[in-house]
Amino acid sequence: MTKHVLLIIGGGIAAYKSLFLIRELSKRGITSKVILTKGGSQFVTPLSAGALTGETVLTDLWELDEQAEMGHIELSRSADLIVVAPATANLLARAAHGVADDLASTTLLATDTRVLYAPAMNVRMWEAEATQRNVAQLRDDGAMFVGPDAGDMACGEFGEGRMAEPDAIADAVEAALMGDTSLDGWRADKPLQGKRALVTAGPTREPMDPVRYLSNHSSGKQGYAIAQALADQGAEVTLVSGPVTLPAPMGVTRVMVETAVEMLAACEAALPADVFVSVAAVADWRPAARTDKKTKKPKDGPAPLELVENPDILKTLGDHKERPALVIGFAAETHEVVTLARAKRLRKGCDWIVANDVSGDVMGGDQNAMIIVRDDGEDSWPRMTKSAAARKLAREIVKAL
Ligand code: C5P
Repeated sequence: MTKHVLLIIGGGIAAYKSLFLIRELSKRGITSKVILTKGGSQFVTPLSAGALTGETVLTDLWELDEQAEMGHIELSRSADLIVVAPATANLLARAAHGVADDLASTTLLATDTRVLYAPAMNVRMWEAEATQRNVAQLRDDGAMFVGPDAGDMACGEFGEGRMAEPDAIADAVEAALMGDTSLDGWRADKPLQGKRALVTAGPTREPMDPVRYLSNHSSGKQGYAIAQALADQGAEVTLVSGPVTLPAPMGVTRVMVETAVEMLAACEAALPADVFVSVAAVADWRPAARTDKKTKKPKDGPAPLELVENPDILKTLGDHKERPALVIGFAAETHEVVTLARAKRLRKGCDWIVANDVSGDVMGGDQNAMIIVRDDGEDSWPRMTKSAAARKLAREIVKAL
């Protein structure tokens, strides 16, 4: 059944991202109706929000009957969820205190539908005691929160206060609509605070001479997204990365390596950890010798490439004396995905295997459909963006730790 969201767009620079949110929701089969506050309409126009939702955008309490033939109470009841994005300090304050002086705040006061806030404001405003008090009050009243994120802010400062990205908000909306009780993980607190996470990502590169190497197509995107998602949940993250072109995720310690042997050494150096997520596509083999000079093509005889086996990093850490409490491996397969993943889980001594079918465009692509294989069965997740999958996995890790 189609779900319906009432989206309140407040007056902040992040309002433009709410237009992307409308599109993201509609891709997921969720329709939106928009209330644009007076401040919100300084940043986006009713026309753009209306074009994206295909519905009249509501802007003023007193025109409501005329515009939509619906009272504000009816308006809030017709939605499955109310989303406030961006939720400005002012909107949060008014909602927390029951002030009802425009359509947005009146709707928030009149509703018994659950509300998800995506705060967006300057870091000092976010950290202000008054704002934190208001957030705590709204939470006590049953509101949910997604974000804010830490990062560079439009005002030139750095810190927490950036509105969560549209796909993160859309994930939270879906989770809220499904009645996900782990939505606590979306709140501004950090459930993995004090926990250490180790993540590997990207390919390894196994040189045979100064100009040639063996490698694979891994982009590192999934592993980087997982490192970011764990850091967002408050974990202290070390990301051991093979050669990729991605920037280091915010708030993550990154160690760049080339070969599997180097990757293993960097992982062992990063122990102890509470969770190890082995996402890297580690080369199983490496050239037996790395010559200093470029290898010449032999006149005749076999190709001059002898291979030796690389260490298995996942298995080594799974059997380690400092084994992390939760060890998660990945299995990229092109056929018999689950059968092979189950066997791999046992063989590698890990707790979960995240299996994915890489016969399509997963490697290097932006989307992934994952199956989580645990000792008590499997859980298939629909195809979603790699960052959405990473956040979902991070929430599972929160539950397990
Ligand atoms: O056996 P396979 O290579 O398919 O296993 C994949 C899993 O094992 C991934 O989690 C990968 O990071 C890990 N792995 C590893 N070291 C290797 C090979 C794979 O950590 N040498």
